[in-house]
Amino acid sequence: MIDIHTHILHNCDDGSDSLELSIKQIKNMIEKGVTDIVLTPHYMNSYVQTDSRIIDKQFKELSIAAASMKVNLYKGGEIFLNPGIEDKVNSELCIGDTSYILVETNMGEFTNEIYEILFNLVQKGLKPILAHPERYHYIQNDPDMAEDFLHRNIYLQINAGSILGLYGQTISKTAWYLIDNGFAHFMASDNHCRTDEYILPIAKEMIHDKIDNYTAELLTKINPQKMLNNEKINYFYLQKQKIEKKGFFERFLRKI
Ligand SMILES: [Fe+2]
Repeated sequence: MIDIHTHILHNCDDGSDSLELSIKQIKNMIEKGVTDIVLTPHYMNSYVQTDSRIIDKQFKELSIAAASMKVNLYKGGEIFLNPGIEDKVNSELCIGDTSYILVETNMGEFTNEIYEILFNLVQKGLKPILAHPERYHYIQNDPDMAEDFLHRNIYLQINAGSILGLYGQTISKTAWYLIDNGFAHFMASDNHCRTDEYILPIAKEMIHDKIDNYTAELLTKINPQKMLNNEKINYFYLQKQKIEKKGFFERFLRKI
């Protein structure tokens, strides 16, 4: 598995508060089958708690501390879409050496201004991935809006916690709807280091059980690997035709 959204880089935001905790979390993730981790500290016109030079220093520190571990670490950010952010986004904020960037919006309203910011980012040659769309009210109220994002060259990343129902029923229902309809490209942990339980494998298993193995692999390995290679990922992908299972009376009534 490849986890493309985590807050494990220490002392940068509301995630890990020490190098020791970061290493402990990484060990746990490796044990659960993770091979690659993208570190995505919050960025709101600047990194939340520190500046980019310190982020670089901490990234080196963590990379050295994890050097003997069987894992690849990549630096990125979770960029909050504010007016003017387009001018600040450069390769430093991209994931690893790719042109992919992880972005988030406010929870409530999706304005034309945000469409414009996303359009400008795409025009710059960047490939935005919208983090946890299922958590935003505008998607919950109109989940088919997700399809519009795909037409606008925006990828979507579901949180594992949403699949498990950790943020409540509405978010869970929305997350499943997005996956069921082929609107999701990635699933990640958004791990804030608040618990020892690492849930990405559990959510992956649920997708395997409820949908199929291909979708589970697509969201946690196939697409993330393409992203790390900076390959283009299809916005739309092949979905299995759902066959409704009808009861005897429904089948009987259909014949009349
Ligand atoms: Fe996050």
